[in-house]
Amino acid sequence: MTATIRILGAEDARAAISDLCDILSDGINGGASLGFMQPFEPKDAIGYWQAIAGEVESGAIILAVAELDSRLVGTVQVGLASKPNQPHRGDLMKLLVHSSARGLGLSRKLMAAVEEEAARRGRTLLVLDTATGSDAEAIYPRFGWQRVGVIPDYALWPQGGFCGTTLFYKRIGA
Ligand SMILES: CC(C)(COP(=O)(O)OP(=O)(O)OC[C@H]1O[C@@H](n2cnc3c(N)ncnc32)[C@H](O)[C@@H]1OP(=O)(O)O)[C@@H](O)C(=O)NCCC(=O)NCCS
Repeated sequence: MTATIRILGAEDARAAISDLCDILSDGINGGASLGFMQPFEPKDAIGYWQAIAGEVESGAIILAVAELDSRLVGTVQVGLASKPNQPHRGDLMKLLVHSSARGLGLSRKLMAAVEEEAARRGRTLLVLDTATGSDAEAIYPRFGWQRVGVIPDYALWPQGGFCGTTLFYKRIGA
């Protein structure tokens, strides 16, 4: 089993929407805090991924995917901050690996690929926030990210109830 990591253009992003819907709904139904509430079906994610493909097209988002056995099983994004005073910054978002493909090192590969692409596009600082107490919170320090702190009651878990968010940053490139 060899995984392939790719940075998608807009056309490939649109072709990937069905697999990306499956990955997002799997994460939400598994209890990950990803901006949506349960119940959540793959079709509920179509509009979201169409909008992301549009942002890939405009150059506002870098979208990476992991492919295993001809199926997409993982994804991550970097939003390229557009404010005139932040041309060097990006927002890491939606790191997700399908529950059937976890523990294979795919998130590490996805993060390396998207960080390299963000650096290639001139970004030197990435920031992210992730649900406090989640699996993801435990892994970002392993990828060289610096923990900043916690904002309590920032969002809702997909099944309901407040969850805090933990902020991280990482310097990349030169
Ligand atoms: C978090 C997530 C992306 C990890 O993906 P994964 O492909 O299984 O992770 P990997 O196999 O690449 O593991 C990466 C590292 O984290 C470690 N790790 C993996 N899961 C872990 C966990 N639950 N707790 C602590 N460490 C963990 C691995 O041992 C590995 O360490 P190493 O590379 O230093 O040996 C995946 O569990 C997921 O999609 N979770 C739900 C979505 C989510 O919460 N996303 C965050 C949105 S901000």
